[in-house]
Amino acid sequence: MCGIIAAIAQRDIVEILLEGLRRLEYRGYDSAGLTVINESGHAIRLRRLGKVQKLVEAVEHLSLVGGTGIAHTRWATHGQPSEVNAHPHISKHIIIAHNGIIENHASLRVKLIEHGYEFVSETDSEVVAHLIHWEQQMQGGTLSEVVLRVIPQLQGAYGIVVMDSRDPSVLLAIRLGSPLVIGQGIRENFIASDELALLPVTRRFIYLEEGDIAEVRRGHIKILNQNGKPVQRFGIKSNVQYDANDKGHYSHYMHKEIYEQPIAIKNTLTGRLKQDKINLSELGDNFKMLLNQVEHIQIIACGTSYNSGMVSRYWFESLANMPCDVEIASEYRYRKPAVRRNSLFIVLSQSGETADTLEALRLSKKLDYLGSLAICNVESSSLVRESDLALMTKAGIEIGVASTKAFTAQLTVLLMLVVKLARLHGMAAITEYKIVQILKKLPTRIEQILTQEKTIQKLAEGFYDKNHAFFLGRGDQYPIAMEGALKLKEISYIHAEAYAAGELKHGPLALIDENIPVIVIAPNNQLLEKLKSNIEEVRTRGGLLYIFTDKDAGFKANEKIKIISLPYVEELIAPIFYILPLQLLSYHVGLIKGTNVDQPRNLAKSVTVE
Ligand code: AGP
Ligand code: GLU
Repeated sequence: MCGIIAAIAQRDIVEILLEGLRRLEYRGYDSAGLTVINESGHAIRLRRLGKVQKLVEAVEHLSLVGGTGIAHTRWATHGQPSEVNAHPHISKHIIIAHNGIIENHASLRVKLIEHGYEFVSETDSEVVAHLIHWEQQMQGGTLSEVVLRVIPQLQGAYGIVVMDSRDPSVLLAIRLGSPLVIGQGIRENFIASDELALLPVTRRFIYLEEGDIAEVRRGHIKILNQNGKPVQRFGIKSNVQYDANDKGHYSHYMHKEIYEQPIAIKNTLTGRLKQDKINLSELGDNFKMLLNQVEHIQIIACGTSYNSGMVSRYWFESLANMPCDVEIASEYRYRKPAVRRNSLFIVLSQSGETADTLEALRLSKKLDYLGSLAICNVESSSLVRESDLALMTKAGIEIGVASTKAFTAQLTVLLMLVVKLARLHGMAAITEYKIVQILKKLPTRIEQILTQEKTIQKLAEGFYDKNHAFFLGRGDQYPIAMEGALKLKEISYIHAEAYAAGELKHGPLALIDENIPVIVIAPNNQLLEKLKSNIEEVRTRGGLLYIFTDKDAGFKANEKIKIISLPYVEELIAPIFYILPLQLLSYHVGLIKGTNVDQPRNLAKSVTVE
């Protein structure tokens, strides 16, 4: 979601800013802009609605050159996507770019208008520029001193970069609720909301912590806390691999990432299956002690990560006999949860920057949990840094807005964690041994199902003119139905609903007719007979069925029932397996409908606002 890149250097930084914006495109945005202080000391601003490429073309016409500047991709929260609402925002000589939301913008706006400021945009962000300008006029001081007086007046979550066109020797970065990282160069420095934007210029990063204010000069970086006291933050060297243009032979990142699942799972398992046992020694001895005490698991996440938590609930309870609750972060953080005795708090996130999930983690620290564990795909993320313990999914960078390989990698980690816990709570060694053998086969099973793509592509044609779809599942396939529906919604814009199949007759059955495809996830397990009754309920009402099943399940195809027979898979890992055809289905329906599958409308990869 939204992106910032800023640079301060001896050399011309315009191309660095533009390349940074290109690298941030995957996060989702609606407009882009930059302000550069040119060689004559003038702040030149350019903004465009739509793609970064439009901004690039506008910059080419200007032959802009300068050593200090800020660029931004906006994902509108306040004020429609438009050129005038795009960032940076300017108040005389103060220039700002903002990620996040200023919640008290309305009252600040009133106050600033009384002071004589004219607002040109509808954004919440513009108040920040005027407020900094006003404070500077009133009480003076260095830019940091001014900003330290402004911060207590701002409510909300933000990552802000500030520049004063009268003094191009310094950039100011403020982090409170939205990530910012400093990239260190040789007599040049950079700021960005995501390290990927800075990889062409540096690999040395300092991650700002909540409340940090950084004064970034060409040869010097000074970090202050909210009270203005200097604080030490250590730099790290990143070895992240990312090439924004590297889709290989695939047309879309989503397609590539679906196909990366065997390797993502393999990497996630590597080093964690030792001598036919699950080995999570990376978490240290304290973790084992903690697991011994655990009596309850509380999982918090959003979107796809929530769905993986929902699958794991079935595993925690059936394999480890461990009560487990799963809740959406945006709900959890605003209620007063009663914490169960000896409860372990688990946060799931691909990005590790999802605002609601992070806030839920922060809330958990004030509550009586045994500790917190993050399962995350980005090692340098806020979530990993702020959790007591972390287990990484090794899916590799996920670019497509629709999460695919991160989901199956999360499930893989969760299953290992469940088995570890189960062993400590009485699971037989032989069961662990058998599960390890199944896990070893998982990458191959995933490869096998990917061979079904042609069949699924054909199936997708049936969805071209559909406006609604149902996904049905039972047991641990119910959350897979939820994830399948989420994928179809975000990629094809078809309204899709998931139901626990037994719930159908309690209302949604009223909607069934020949225009609504009903996708059923029907592996051959002990719930199959129950599911067959639900399928019959749909069939007798003229519903159009697509049944994803295994060849021995005994379904017969006809004009109204399409059977998609899938290769064999062990029951335990069936949820990880059955999501693959649903990912492929969404992808192909999206292609047929001509949507932007990698950056679906209105969505962002990393949701850093609540
Ligand atoms: C997944 O396809 C979605 N784009 C979205 O639901 C996502 O899973 C959610 O925003 C949570 O993100 P996270 O895993 O990075 O926290
Ligand atoms: N809230 C600001 C706006 O709507 C910033 C949005 C963003 O984070 O891109 O302009």
